[in-house]
Amino acid sequence: MRILVTGGAGFIGSHLIDRLMAENHEVLCLDNFFTGHKRNILKWLGNPNFELIRHDVTEPIRLEADQIYHLACPASPQHYQYNPVKTIKTNVMGTLNMLGLAKRVKARFFLASTSEVYGDPEVHPQTEDYRGNVNPIGIRSCYDEGKRVAETLAFDYMRQNDVQIRVVRIFNTYGPRMLENDGRVVSNFIVQALRNHPLTVYGTGSQTRSFCYVSDLVEGFIRLMNSDHTGPVNLGNPDEYTILQLAQTIQEMINPTGEIKYEPLPQDDPRRRKPDITRAKTWLGWQPTVPLKEGLTRTIADFRSRITGETSGNALLADTIGAPSSP
Ligand SMILES: NC(=O)c1ccc[n+]([C@@H]2O[C@H](COP(=O)([O-])OP(=O)(O)OC[C@H]3O[C@@H](n4cnc5c(N)ncnc54)[C@H](O)[C@@H]3O)[C@@H](O)[C@H]2O)c1
Repeated sequence: MRILVTGGAGFIGSHLIDRLMAENHEVLCLDNFFTGHKRNILKWLGNPNFELIRHDVTEPIRLEADQIYHLACPASPQHYQYNPVKTIKTNVMGTLNMLGLAKRVKARFFLASTSEVYGDPEVHPQTEDYRGNVNPIGIRSCYDEGKRVAETLAFDYMRQNDVQIRVVRIFNTYGPRMLENDGRVVSNFIVQALRNHPLTVYGTGSQTRSFCYVSDLVEGFIRLMNSDHTGPVNLGNPDEYTILQLAQTIQEMINPTGEIKYEPLPQDDPRRRKPDITRAKTWLGWQPTVPLKEGLTRTIADFRSRITGETSGNALLADTIGAPSSP
């Protein structure tokens, strides 16, 4: 098949592309390189089945594809809050453009939505029919509400225009190729520990999160895309850890004598988040297989090589970790 992946040079998108290329599909990677990087897809440049398109999804584009995985959107608060108006534009206009394309070329459309649509949830764990507790005017709204509108658009295109859609709600995912400066908890802790800095825990660290390894997530994407189910489907790891437990685990793996320092919780930080994955299990036969320690080992190895490269003045790396360019 010819498969378009928007946000394909990013963390999850590039792992998805690795998988699709390994399955011998023709892959179009579309990205504006806001948080993505050529390094992530470097190995495919020059491959006749691979094409890289520098493009911003907020602008329409004409392409041919059988399937569209729509991932383009900065995912970490640090990056999506950098230019909130652009973030909501990416979610609304970007999704509209990609749905328009899907309609025109009769492609199946896959939306990478998020557990953030549940906001600060009042039910636990979250099932897909929970409608969420989202602050419409907070600093996370450009992302949370943007993704909620993206889901609405997808379902309206399905009802009104018969576009085949697939919607996943992704819970915290981690793995190699996450950006060092993205402010997400796993990358923060790993980078701090590798640099011998104290690990920063916000609040008391009793807030919980679940962490899904990226290869498990990609497996769920492929299964949903090629199933007869529309979704939304939660994809994430239901094993729940407190932030403090995560900090201690990473500390033990990298720097057991390091310190932990505590800082105030940021605004609208959800207290608990854990997916109910019954739907993914029953519809797709999917569940995570990579245990946290194993996933962390692979992720730490990747960060270690990049951070070592950084100190030896690796230009490619310096480019990756520099301040994000204005989107
Ligand atoms: N990583 C997670 O834990 C997580 C959780 C929930 C949802 N998601 C969703 O998964 C998707 C991928 O996330 P990720 O973690 O790989 O993030 P990422 O920031 O690494 O990837 C996003 C990619 O989209 C590109 N992009 C951003 N705005 C664009 C635009 N206007 N036009 C074209 N390209 C654009 C970026 O350059 C980047 O390559 C996002 O839609 C995100 O909302 C991720």
